[in-house]
Amino acid sequence: MNVYDSEQIVTSLKPLGYKITSSLEKAGLIIVNTCAIREKAEQKVFSFLGRLSRLKIKKPDLILGVGGCVAQQEGSKMLQRVPFLDLVFGTHAICRLPGHIKRIETKKCRIVDTEMIDGIDESAFVIDTEDHRKVSSFVTIMQGCDNFCTYCVVPYVRGREASREPEKIVNEIRELVNCGVKEVTLLGQNVNSYGRKEGLCSFAELLSLVNGIEGLVRIRFTTSHPKDLSDDLIYAFYMLEKLCHHIHLPVQSGSNSVLKRMNRKYTRELYLEKINKLRNICPDIAVTSDFIVGFPGETEDDFKQTLDLIKTVEFDGLFAFKYSDRPNAPASGFSHKISEREKKDRLMELLDLQERFTKKRNESLVGSTELTLVEGKSKKQSGKDAQIEPRHIQWTGRTSTNKIINFSRSDDCIACDDIFTGRMVNIKVEKALSHSLMGRPIEVEPIFDELVKGQIHQVSGAKC
Ligand code: 5AD
Ligand code: SF4
Repeated sequence: MNVYDSEQIVTSLKPLGYKITSSLEKAGLIIVNTCAIREKAEQKVFSFLGRLSRLKIKKPDLILGVGGCVAQQEGSKMLQRVPFLDLVFGTHAICRLPGHIKRIETKKCRIVDTEMIDGIDESAFVIDTEDHRKVSSFVTIMQGCDNFCTYCVVPYVRGREASREPEKIVNEIRELVNCGVKEVTLLGQNVNSYGRKEGLCSFAELLSLVNGIEGLVRIRFTTSHPKDLSDDLIYAFYMLEKLCHHIHLPVQSGSNSVLKRMNRKYTRELYLEKINKLRNICPDIAVTSDFIVGFPGETEDDFKQTLDLIKTVEFDGLFAFKYSDRPNAPASGFSHKISEREKKDRLMELLDLQERFTKKRNESLVGSTELTLVEGKSKKQSGKDAQIEPRHIQWTGRTSTNKIINFSRSDDCIACDDIFTGRMVNIKVEKALSHSLMGRPIEVEPIFDELVKGQIHQVSGAKC
């Protein structure tokens, strides 16, 4: 979500003449987009702002702004704490950013804008129609959250849940496809409750509409709340050929007593039932999750149940975090806090356990052929192209199951282009590394129309 917001910030400032630079020293304007989800993320903001103060001393005309969740949370307190800041703007203020920057440029004033609105302000969604390099794009379908998990700051910094109208979403995706986008990731704090409040269509129906967009090849979404994962949505993995076979389904804990105190509104048993349904409908689906360790009052036995859940599900991957108190979140007032030492030990134990399953699931793909959307040259190699022969260039893409796969042009390749970016390529998986796969391209889709019409598996591509 923050990546998406940062893109919106960049796009909205283009008409003012601003362009991205990779050098902090060259910048005339620096916007720090912030995250407040955990204490560590917030601490990083203040240490980074400390570094920026040295730049401002050297270059007094430099404009410095802070946006996002920390800005929303701290508001004008940030101006006091960071004396050289020109602008603090919250999560609902991106659409007003160009106006604020113009005022600061001319009037040399300091501005705080943390106003929040109910509902959706469509002017907040701008797309850069001049950018034709993107293969994959985020699309916000809803904002805010009404779930109030007791550890979470999101409802307080992103406001109440509100969904965009399906027509607006579909139109935005059509425009993106016209700019060359092949894959969209639909974004919301809990996409499973899309449209419910406003009486719009369900999320499964929205997916079906998006699936019908000509020229679009793949659909992903994030994030899902297990309590709202409907049978219709599970069935969509079978019905919709463009829907990628991956679901991120944060469970947070394997213990019912912890889940209850987290206000998650589902049990371990219900979670496992949903995973079974997903795997019955879509046997190769990749499942990833989020976990919090050391929630207040989490006992050794609670933690064992979390480890047991991980062994039962065998996730493709997971993110795990040490619990941290967040302002306004009820759990910050809960007793029986777990020590940092204990949280660290539990985190290591959990990650060690999962490492086995991540590896196992990656290894199970060796020998298979994975239809991959190529995102571009692998990061390691961009910038060094001049010295690299085309056949040695390493490309990177993602499988439908969201695994990163790297490959080079095969030695005897006669038909495939040197340019793979944005194309669907069948890749034979040859090696599994801990967090990615390596493979060999065997087929490039030459007839894109057929792909787009959903005949992905029947297209006879050019052989390499
Ligand atoms: N402490 C630790 N982790 C947290 N998360 C959210 N709030 C907290 C917190 N207070 C984690 C959850 C969530 C992910 C985005 O961040 O696992 O799914
Ligand atoms: Fe936070 Fe819970 Fe909302 Fe997710 S569903 S954003 S964890 S309150």
